[in-house]
Amino acid sequence: MWTKEDLHNLVNTRLRDYLFLVVSNREPYVHNYAGDEIECLVPASGLTVALDPVMRTCGGTWVAHGSGDADRQVVDSQNKVRVPPEDPRYCLKRVWLTREQEDGYYYGFSNEALWPLCHIAYTRPVFNESDWNTYREVNRLFAQTVLEEVGDKKAFVFIQDYHLALLPRFIREGHPNIISAQFWHIPWPNPEAFRICPWQEDILHGLLGNDLLGFHIRYHCNNFLDTVDRALEARVDRERYEVTRGGKRTAVRPFPISVDFEELNARAQLPEVDIEIDRLKDTFGLNGEFIGLGLDRIDYTKGIPERLKALDRLLERYPTYRGRLVFFQVGSPSRTHIGVYKQLNEEVAGLVDDINWKYGQGKWKPIVYLRENVSQLALMALRRMANFCMVTSLHDGMNLVAKEYVASRFDGDGVLILSPFAGAGRELTDALLVNPYAIDHLAETMKKALEMPSSERHRRMRRMREVVQENNIYKWAADIISELTRFEFGD
Ligand code: G6P
Repeated sequence: MWTKEDLHNLVNTRLRDYLFLVVSNREPYVHNYAGDEIECLVPASGLTVALDPVMRTCGGTWVAHGSGDADRQVVDSQNKVRVPPEDPRYCLKRVWLTREQEDGYYYGFSNEALWPLCHIAYTRPVFNESDWNTYREVNRLFAQTVLEEVGDKKAFVFIQDYHLALLPRFIREGHPNIISAQFWHIPWPNPEAFRICPWQEDILHGLLGNDLLGFHIRYHCNNFLDTVDRALEARVDRERYEVTRGGKRTAVRPFPISVDFEELNARAQLPEVDIEIDRLKDTFGLNGEFIGLGLDRIDYTKGIPERLKALDRLLERYPTYRGRLVFFQVGSPSRTHIGVYKQLNEEVAGLVDDINWKYGQGKWKPIVYLRENVSQLALMALRRMANFCMVTSLHDGMNLVAKEYVASRFDGDGVLILSPFAGAGRELTDALLVNPYAIDHLAETMKKALEMPSSERHRRMRRMREVVQENNIYKWAADIISELTRFEFGD
């Protein structure tokens, strides 16, 4: 089993002479003004949840967009700040973007084109030439920052996600000896779906600037190889999972991402979590009801309306649960300047309102909707309280909410309801796997979760915990680093 210490040793032996850089759009810590004070927040992002423990262990520099309104206040002359604030372990170097750049690159091409293109959730991608030009410009800006940081030293650069598809090519053009890997945190669709992108060749050419390209599951690696095969002149080796183009090779591999199991497991047992549970019970007037939990960014890929409709169906069919079940839906606002996200926010708020009105009796309401960034402590308390947790993604790369729930249940109790369309569905086969489009089935599955005998709950949870403990975030990072160092050392 991989531990923090093992990863630390691997990095110290194999990466000793190298700078280690992580590059992503989203930063792991955001500084915002709260009145006259500055507060430091952890954003709702699977990517940052996963990478932060790796960086705490490896050290190095994380380059990311400085998106907080107080971010400039806390950096030094090189735009750097040491994080985490309470126990600095690594360096965060911020890249500044203008509003126009953020609009075209982040809201526009990344989240109105690539996000719906890669997630088959039936939201139509918007391809806008000026967004694409801004996306290229911002990828160049990230490349400049990386190249300045590296200078003439040896470096491993670990790029994250779909915001930076052109970055590896720009880095290679500027410094051919940098070794780079990229992890694509979202699904890769089949070539039929991907080919509607007017700039598909440029994107593939950009990504093939990497030595290594990772996806969560093999199915996405196959889709990527198929897409390259159809769109580019390149040699695709399906046995070795490699693409060769212009004499350069890119290895394509699955690395299922995970969480820091030991850390979550330990944090779940802290006495302050018990205090927080009591506080939440008090605040929401809970009195022994069953607790259900949904915990998401408000995103149309997460299947939030489907989940609420299933709750409605459950209460309609089985009135015995009225007054006896409270569903907590935590929804962190996300990408709210985009039209479809605005509509989704309205739809979710409307559903909550309707369902609460339809079934509410006296003080009891079936849904508590927390539409805010809830503290890490409260999230942990909710995971511990929840008799069942629902992850109903219509399509998802991995989904770490599922793994966080499992890692937090040190008591071995709790039921996970999980969509097979999330990468996590391939690993956590002891969850109740259910198609979120099938609302009746989803409602019946909630009933099953509520009525599952304790012995079965414990058996399933124990097996899922073994999976997450074994395939933890340190193993994920070690597998990628080991694979990456093969390019340098040729083993
Ligand atoms: C997904 C993406 C991440 C992103 C996260 C939150 O998990 O793969 O790259 O950080 O969503 O979205 P946001 O747009 O707020 O960064």
